[in-house]
Amino acid sequence: MCGIIGYVGDKNSVPFLIEGLKRLEYRGYDSAGIAVAENGHIHRVRAVGKVAELEKASLLENPRGCCGIGHTRWATHGKPSQENSHPHTDCSGDIVVVHNGIIENYLSLKEKLQALGHKFQSETDTEVIAHLIEENLKHVHAETDEQRFFRAVMKTSDELQGAFAYGVLWAKTPNQIIGVKNQSPLVVGLGEGENFLASDVPAFLKYTNKVLFLEDGQTVVLRPEKTVVYGMDGKETKVKPTKVAWDQKTAEKSGFKHFMLKEIYDQPQALEDTLRTAQADFMRILGLKTEDLRRIKNIYLVACGTAYHAALIGKYYLENFAGVTASVDLASEFKYRTIPPAKDTLCIAVSQSGETADTLGAVKKAKELGFKRLAICNVLGSGLTRACGSVFYTHCGPEISVASTKAFTSQIISLYALSIFLGHASGNISRGQFDKLYKEMMALPKAVAETLKIEYDVRHLTKKVYKANRFIFLGRNVDYPIALEGALKLKEISYTSAEGFAAGEIKHGPISVIDKGTPVIILMPKDHLFDKMLSAAQECRARGAFVIAVTTPDGSEEAAAVTDKRILVPKTGEYLQPVLNVIALQFFAYWVAKRLGRDIDQPRNLAKSVTVE
Ligand code: F6R
Repeated sequence: MCGIIGYVGDKNSVPFLIEGLKRLEYRGYDSAGIAVAENGHIHRVRAVGKVAELEKASLLENPRGCCGIGHTRWATHGKPSQENSHPHTDCSGDIVVVHNGIIENYLSLKEKLQALGHKFQSETDTEVIAHLIEENLKHVHAETDEQRFFRAVMKTSDELQGAFAYGVLWAKTPNQIIGVKNQSPLVVGLGEGENFLASDVPAFLKYTNKVLFLEDGQTVVLRPEKTVVYGMDGKETKVKPTKVAWDQKTAEKSGFKHFMLKEIYDQPQALEDTLRTAQADFMRILGLKTEDLRRIKNIYLVACGTAYHAALIGKYYLENFAGVTASVDLASEFKYRTIPPAKDTLCIAVSQSGETADTLGAVKKAKELGFKRLAICNVLGSGLTRACGSVFYTHCGPEISVASTKAFTSQIISLYALSIFLGHASGNISRGQFDKLYKEMMALPKAVAETLKIEYDVRHLTKKVYKANRFIFLGRNVDYPIALEGALKLKEISYTSAEGFAAGEIKHGPISVIDKGTPVIILMPKDHLFDKMLSAAQECRARGAFVIAVTTPDGSEEAAAVTDKRILVPKTGEYLQPVLNVIALQFFAYWVAKRLGRDIDQPRNLAKSVTVE
């Protein structure tokens, strides 16, 4: 939520800022702005709407300067407007700030600053940072402006409460940017004679993959030739750069019309890359804590949105393969409900970004309860990976589209791998069973590649239903969470009402919403519950529904007797089948949204990383 970018080097910063903001646009797209140090003053350009609007405005105004900061906003305090767009300034207009997160004590700080004569121009919490730095500059002393500014920023950070990251620039020190990280993401890209500050790596990946992942409480000073990190005590601290394996191509559309479609097609590779390290990583995780994990009696899975749906499938895996009782909580609920303290309990947090505030909050609570913590996460160095004792990384590369696709299937396969490795280590499954499950798992990327061939059929089918004003998705067992995910994906990007249900539940209420022509998408691979799904299809059809079956070739004929259309996906092991089934629903959502002319990669009101509660 909200993207920060900063550039300091020997070139005009503006193209770097605009390009970086475009790559961070998934984090918010209500408004955007940049500010550069230009001949002793600050030149600021802001625009409501997407970064393209800012780009137009800055072409007209032509700001130029080798040091600049930029921001793309997802509104929290104050509506999307020119005044509320970042960067925000102090009274003089010489100090500019871009910020991500929430300053919880901004109202009391604002009142204090107003009483001292500071004039505010926006409704945002961010603006207090600029005025507070201005105020603190009056009270700190140092030999150089650079040192004085650094001290004023440190003093300011001490007075701020909340989870935030910010970048700041002062016209009097036009060769440096200062960045501060406290529980919101902030990374540094180290280039040759130029350095970058950003909320996320793709913002500068084209120029460098050498990254400093900052810790909470750290402040960084970036100059063209040097970047120095300081701890909370103001003392220099060494942070080892990490070479990020992602390359620029993974963060581009590569000829696809939308990131979402590209990311659907990335799935065979994402799964292969995730599985490549799964055995070694889980053996390390399990090996380090074998005794601990063998004693695990209870598992809580916590996550939000799509990751929550992956966690729901994880419950089936953990109970079936590892033989451990598992429960799944929406992270936002886990934080606030009473959880009895229990020994030998593991909390598994699932998150693509590793930044989701609710998930971080749930993990904090798990820590307070004395639970062990394992993160399944896609982003190296993110807050979640630091908050958990162990981490398993999904290797999907950057997921840019707001609607999650490849992260979801990678999370499922990670939970599957964990469950079979755990089940094998604890003796819950035999060597023979493990070998069979393992073989199926390793063959999955190929099956996913095969499944992608259904796009044409799904695209064609959506022509018939895309104008419907309500969609129903039904699944059972491991396909129940897939029904929920199919509905979420569709409503997220098409803005149409869609609901997912456990197929056995429809007769307990939901069937009343089915009307003549209501599209009902039924997940019905030919497995031990197939007959039940045939009945569900008949019940819906009898009420006038237009029934679409997602089934396997061996179920096609029987499904044809009770449904209006079929989408055929290849067959794999029963517990892995959801990974193939969801691909049909990802294409379905994509093509309905495309036909409706929606903004697929950046649907209204949403942002990719939800870093506020
Ligand atoms: C849906 C979607 C969201 C995220 C949710 C959690 O397509 O992307 O529902 O899954 O906000 O995000 P992460 O996984 O980053 O914690």
